[in-house]
Amino acid sequence: MISKKMESMLNEQMKNEFFSAYFYLAMAAWFSSKNLNGFANWYRIQAQEERDHATMIMDYTLRVGANAEFLTIEAPDANFASPMDIFEKTLEHEQKVTAMINDLMGAAIDERDFKTQQFLQWYVSEQVEEEENATGLIEKLRIAGNSEAGILYMDAEAATRVYTPAVQATT
Ligand SMILES: [Fe+2]
Ligand SMILES: [Fe+2]
Repeated sequence: MISKKMESMLNEQMKNEFFSAYFYLAMAAWFSSKNLNGFANWYRIQAQEERDHATMIMDYTLRVGANAEFLTIEAPDANFASPMDIFEKTLEHEQKVTAMINDLMGAAIDERDFKTQQFLQWYVSEQVEEEENATGLIEKLRIAGNSEAGILYMDAEAATRVYTPAVQATT
């Protein structure tokens, strides 16, 4: 079992991960509408990953005998100005998610809930990767002088991303 507090924090995070999927899908749609199909692919895969992050939380709550709740997912702000705007919003969003994961981990440590700490460790590492990816997009486009040629080059590179399901170490 896990505490009621931990159960509700995990359910809240499941919703937040679904919100991330929704947000990245909105970004994928924006890129598709601009014919930047490589970035559309990249963000569509990103949305799939976020759905994995959410369902892994659902699976964990069920394994420890807690309830999985399906909370309301808010609509993302889907007004984007440019690729750089999207990359910056991606980094900003991932920094918020990192803070949420840190709050969850902090609560699990306070409660001496060792299995939830172990479960959350995967998310701690994942957030390093997510912030690194978003920073990489921003930096690369900055190096290219935020130029159209740079965007097209990066779009071609983003087209090669393939979806690999998230694998969590079994506990
Ligand atoms: Fe996530
Ligand atoms: Fe990831």
